[in-house]
Amino acid sequence: MELYIDDANISEIRRLIDLYPIDGVTTNPSILSKTGKNPVEVLKDIRKVLGRDARIFAQTIPTDAEGMIRDGHALIKLLGKHTVVKIPSVPEGFKAIRELSQEGISTCGTVVYTPMQAYLAAKSGADYVAPYINRIDNMGFDGVETVKKIQRILDLHHFETGILAASFKNSQQVLDLCACGIKAATCSPSVIDGFVKNAAIDIAVQDFLSAFAKSAPDSTSMADLIG
Ligand code: E4P
Repeated sequence: MELYIDDANISEIRRLIDLYPIDGVTTNPSILSKTGKNPVEVLKDIRKVLGRDARIFAQTIPTDAEGMIRDGHALIKLLGKHTVVKIPSVPEGFKAIRELSQEGISTCGTVVYTPMQAYLAAKSGADYVAPYINRIDNMGFDGVETVKKIQRILDLHHFETGILAASFKNSQQVLDLCACGIKAATCSPSVIDGFVKNAAIDIAVQDFLSAFAKSAPDSTSMADLIG
């Protein structure tokens, strides 16, 4: 499963890519506006930190297909070919997805609250569809179950489209969807940090340190001891 950071804070991106096996960064207009900076400058900074080959997901703004396509071209020009153009899964969006994907540009049908939106974005040629787990939960439906249903639809109809699950509130939801084989998940820094936040793990690591200290009281590492 590809793993993305759903945040535009540059120091958080630096910290997380240093520690975890991260495939890139996903953004939307709200995430970019939280930085308080010009959105284009933020996207350029993210590209600098990630390097040329990691994926950046960046969203179009206009509500008509022509404007979405223009934004898509501009985003690719700005951020390079390893960029996925996020387009809301609405009727004008399906048209923009179809035209951009026919040009060979990677697209993601975003703002997915229902399996029908995902089906239509996939049939229009989207590389990814992005259902919003937490927001679906907040509407009174089960976000994780909705994503599983979307996965069944994509499999049954042999689409090459993968799910980029988004809007997680905890690591268990990520694991549940990882176990059913979704293509990608994008998570906030706090959800990523929660992946291995577990007292039992910390105690086990501490026990090994104590055991080593007993057998080699003057060293703090094998490298020290080996010399
Ligand atoms: C990512 O693609 C989505 O835009 C994002 O995860 C939505 O998250 P939110 O529901 O926390 O705003």
